[in-house]
Amino acid sequence: MISLIMRQEELVDSLKLPINATLLAAIAFLVYRIVWPSIPQPREVPTSYKDGYSWMPEKHPQVALFQKYTPLTLKKYNGVEDKRILLAINGKVFDVTAGAGFYGPDGPYGNFAGRDASRGMAKQSFDIEMLSPIEGPLDTLTDLTSEEWVNMKGWDEHFTNKYIVCGELVENGAA
Ligand code: HEM
Repeated sequence: MISLIMRQEELVDSLKLPINATLLAAIAFLVYRIVWPSIPQPREVPTSYKDGYSWMPEKHPQVALFQKYTPLTLKKYNGVEDKRILLAINGKVFDVTAGAGFYGPDGPYGNFAGRDASRGMAKQSFDIEMLSPIEGPLDTLTDLTSEEWVNMKGWDEHFTNKYIVCGELVENGAA
């Protein structure tokens, strides 16, 4: 019993030493942090990298919804009515907004904006008669020569590699 009391006194004395008191405080703090870890709660969602790894971009990146277009619904995407520029080749609708310099209202190929450009691409011509009437049926392209088909397919490939395919062109009333 006496020896137990003496040990307790020794323990209390040893804690009076600054080094031991500091160590005990440090251990107590670490145990506290393990049991109740601190999770920093940002006051608002960080929007830039400097605030850490877990941040949200300021705005969502642009996404393109793949959908069906008809000549009538495609028409408005000509860079004037709508800033987005779409055109179709061989039944595929491309978002060529990134090439606004080519297809915008002042661009050399602006006549293709919002239109089915297949015939013009096949025949390497931007003459107005290359464009089929918007209200009419789709251009069947059956009169194209094999060379013109190859040329159009070449443009199709160029556009597929460069722009986003965002839809398919179907007959008026079918979408
Ligand atoms: C006077 C003759 C022409 C000249 C000097 C010319 C010049 C050019 C030039 C410099 C480019 C840019 C190439 C690049 O940076 O990759 C280009 C692209 C193009 N040209 Fe022409 N071109 C001519 C005729 C035509 C014709 C008749 C068509 C009709 C279909 C046409 C359709 C295109 C298309 C679709 C592009 C690709 C644009 C893109 O990548 O979005 N060009 N042309």
